[in-house]
Amino acid sequence: MVVQTTVELTLNSRCSSGRGHWGVFDESKQLDSHQIDLVKKATQIPRFTNRRLFLDFSSDPILIAVEPGVTGIEEDWLHVESGMQQQAIYLACAALGIGTCIHNVGIDGALIDDMHATARMVIKPIHPPYSGSYWTSSRPRPWLGGNLSDPDLRGKMPFFEAIERASTVSEGIKSGLREISQLLWAARGRTPHEYRGRKWGMTIPTWAGGQNYTSVHLLSGNGLYEYINWRGNAPVHRIERLRNVDIQSISPGCTNCIILSTNERTKRALWEIGYMLENIILQATALGVKYEVKMLGHEEKRRLIPLGLSSAVTAVRLF
Ligand SMILES: Cc1cc2nc3c(=O)[nH]c(=O)nc-3n(C[C@H](O)[C@H](O)[C@H](O)COP(=O)(O)O)c2cc1C
Repeated sequence: MVVQTTVELTLNSRCSSGRGHWGVFDESKQLDSHQIDLVKKATQIPRFTNRRLFLDFSSDPILIAVEPGVTGIEEDWLHVESGMQQQAIYLACAALGIGTCIHNVGIDGALIDDMHATARMVIKPIHPPYSGSYWTSSRPRPWLGGNLSDPDLRGKMPFFEAIERASTVSEGIKSGLREISQLLWAARGRTPHEYRGRKWGMTIPTWAGGQNYTSVHLLSGNGLYEYINWRGNAPVHRIERLRNVDIQSISPGCTNCIILSTNERTKRALWEIGYMLENIILQATALGVKYEVKMLGHEEKRRLIPLGLSSAVTAVRLF
């Protein structure tokens, strides 16, 4: 079975399931081993640290964990990597048309045996959630759009091809406005599914539906912008200029730079950075743009503080 679901269709149809969620598990069916192998394959994310990441697919729900006892900035990066793995499971399930539901183990995770657990995830067949289909290329309604071009929700590259090609750095084409718009949507754009009756679906899951654990900014040309996906009571897709900044003084050599920051000092915020980063890497791979992911060191973080970005974690440099 070759799974052809594209990266964009996967992101737009990111599924979760279980009580209180929008999808419904189909208890009459079982996953086959090929599906489980593909989910496992998706968890082989591009790496930034040499620390251990654990995935126990033999436990039910699946256990996701990291090496315990890591401290400082490396611990932050390790939790971003764990978030990337959690999101890879979500997305692989969406691409395959199966369901997943994440169970928390605490906002900072928990020590389980000799591991620092970050989450548990159930994966199971679901009933088709979108009018008889597992996937949708519809926008949320009403869709107010904004000052960015509407994202392409169909795409070309199959999700599992992007998984194979994904890396921390890639050669490719120059990013224009269309690519920037698509990458910002991939990071935390709106999707048509609802969260507890509200049009709050996003390309990432969030802890208990919270919408403010992390932020996405764009450095472009001579400005710093914030990505906005909700205004009034409706989904939007826009950037708002915050201040003048010379990008060359902050991130020399690139033309655009997406910056992911936490808004609270918790591990759940770092996992969320990982969800957005996994999406951006897969979307950048599917678009074939030239990019470089940088986990920010102390000096790079310090350079961003005068811009009002007090807890930036990761930058995706575009050329
Ligand atoms: C780190 C994390 C932990 C979560 N823990 C739980 C949980 O314990 N129980 C649950 O039902 N949902 C849990 N969720 C799922 C969220 O409630 C759900 O993803 C969110 O409400 C948004 O819904 P959506 O993913 O369908 O967009 C968790 C999500 C995250 C990101």
